[in-house]
Amino acid sequence: MSTNITYHASAVTRDERAQLRNQRGLTIWLTGLSASGKSTIAVELEHQLLRDRKVAAYRLDGDNIRFGLNKDLGFSEKDRNENIRRIAEVAKLFADSACVAITSFISPYRADRDQARQLHEAPAQGESTGLPFVEVYIDVPIEVAEQRDPKGLYKKAREGVIKEFTGISAPYEAPIKPEIHIRNDGISVQEAVRQIIAYLDENGYLPPAPKAE
Ligand code: ADX
Repeated sequence: MSTNITYHASAVTRDERAQLRNQRGLTIWLTGLSASGKSTIAVELEHQLLRDRKVAAYRLDGDNIRFGLNKDLGFSEKDRNENIRRIAEVAKLFADSACVAITSFISPYRADRDQARQLHEAPAQGESTGLPFVEVYIDVPIEVAEQRDPKGLYKKAREGVIKEFTGISAPYEAPIKPEIHIRNDGISVQEAVRQIIAYLDENGYLPPAPKAE
């Protein structure tokens, strides 16, 4: 625990920053089983936001973050709590900088996701509002995820080679009231991304699409 630290405010408020950058920051939090399609959707969503909407968007992804920032963490409940806590803090920094942060982590525990939400939604010092947090449940039946098994991890989990595997030997607590619920079984990546962008547009989170030249 750090002591004797002081919060130092920016010269610009969040609203001023949003105006100067012509976009608002927010976090799009994807959650779902391994092999539910989170990363694939996140990649396409990031690409479309950058290319078609000209907004700064950046993806934080399970496997990648675990190579760096969180390489000291495993898959026990405690380590997953810490994984999500750190990611929530990083996503919040991106969102605060007026970027669209897209996270794709299993994030199996409801309490961890709720904590990530609170971290965003609580107004920071000197701000009147918090940052939008959009929880997106990428929902596939476990049987479908297990059949896809692109990394062969479900097979290893069944064999007991991998312990504490989400959906097999560790829990996944499905969201109760996510902002967006995508049944990602039998729909295309394009359709899944369309649903997310439609929600962002309906809620005024994106600047209008630039006119084609
Ligand atoms: S989380 O539970 O802490 O949110 P995270 O999304 O970072 O998990 O990492 C999940 C990825 O790690 C999976 O897609 C899979 O490739 C890999 N993985 C390795 N071991 C496990 C495990 N025991 N449970 C789930 N995923 C695992």
